[in-house]
Amino acid sequence: MAQATFHFPRGFLWGAATAAHQVEGNNQNNDWWAWEQDPSHILQGHKSGLACDWWGGRWREDFDRAADGNQNAQRISVEWSRIQPAPDRWDETALDFYIEMLRGLRERNLTPLVTLHHFSNPIWFAEMGGWENEEAHLIFEKYVRKTVDALRDYVNYWVTINEPNVYAFEAYLFGLFPPGKKEPLTTMRVLTNLARAHAAAYHAIHALQPAARVGVAHHYRDFKPAKAWFPLDRGVTGINSKVFNDIFPRALATGIVATPFSRSKIPQAKGSQDYFGLNYYTRDRVAFSLLHPGELFSHRYYQPGAQLSATGFLANEPEGMYDAIRWALQFKLPILVTENGVEDPEDQLRPIYLAQHLHQTWRAVNFNFPIKGYFHWTLVDNFEWERGWTQRFGLWELDPATQKRRKRPSADFYAEICRENGLSSEMVQKYAPSLSEELFPD
Ligand code: BGC
Repeated sequence: MAQATFHFPRGFLWGAATAAHQVEGNNQNNDWWAWEQDPSHILQGHKSGLACDWWGGRWREDFDRAADGNQNAQRISVEWSRIQPAPDRWDETALDFYIEMLRGLRERNLTPLVTLHHFSNPIWFAEMGGWENEEAHLIFEKYVRKTVDALRDYVNYWVTINEPNVYAFEAYLFGLFPPGKKEPLTTMRVLTNLARAHAAAYHAIHALQPAARVGVAHHYRDFKPAKAWFPLDRGVTGINSKVFNDIFPRALATGIVATPFSRSKIPQAKGSQDYFGLNYYTRDRVAFSLLHPGELFSHRYYQPGAQLSATGFLANEPEGMYDAIRWALQFKLPILVTENGVEDPEDQLRPIYLAQHLHQTWRAVNFNFPIKGYFHWTLVDNFEWERGWTQRFGLWELDPATQKRRKRPSADFYAEICRENGLSSEMVQKYAPSLSEELFPD
């Protein structure tokens, strides 16, 4: 094994990513809390409950963990339903709470990246039709103005909306997130409304804070044809990627939302990103199949023999990270990897996954692709939406009943990476020795 270090550029942001509903606890005023009350909606009837008890103050100890882990950044989100508990009411104490949290990040030299919408909506907004409401962008813009005005002294990097494609598909096509619909046309309408909302938020933020850096955390799923030589497999792979990956970011680049059913002009969306936020987790094989008309005549599966995460939710496909970055380059923006990680309670796969995905990120850095940071999903085990507590993505283990945290080896591994601003052969030898020859051949 060769002795070497994969260095990252000076000033690279190293963080972990979190979302309000998944960590705060007692988020009783949003559509997710309501959804969780029906046990059939969440695996094993789990509930978010206290989550990581950040609302009870445990953000302090977790930010200490992030800082002790040599991170220089942290991604959090703010909860709309706390800030605006009713259409005509703002909760200043909630805003003060977030100011305190942001000060907490600054005091620990952690650069904040703040998401304004991460899957959860106030109940009152859901009752008005949520993202199907044609006025949703105006309602969202009001919330954004109020929030950004209050928090702008502490935040430069904003994510308006987390994974619009995942949100729209899970909530309106697969029926797994509230409101639990399975309507393709509505899904595309929601995606269009989210593009409008992003554009409105982008301009509102810049009006309040001209120097802000504003983007979206885009989820890219890497689709590869089951048989590369077979035109029908290639065809459906392309369609899957266009529909899931491309519609939203292309809308923000061109000002046109082009879905399979509609074409809407949103001129104010054109050029409405200052950086490209990229979430990457896994890759699918796609085969043409007459048996799956509802899934665009495609059968998606993980490559047989691929390493799978603990519950089989993700396949470890690190080269997809590189392909994700190559794909993101078309938008000609600086790139932040805003999420990447794996569910693994025993921390067997995580060190391997982490080393390989960072190696692929470094490959991209070496081509001078403009990658500015990496945020690992996630810091401490948290509430994983419709999968409840059955999946553990944390660098730190959490027992939600006792609120006890326990460090996984990957937390130490990541801390060494952050301190070094790079990935060295010694670290790989120590935390993921099975990769030594692959990553550092003699
Ligand atoms: C979401 C996170 C989620 C993670 C792992 C991402 O799609 O943004 O909220 O916890 O995946 O499931």
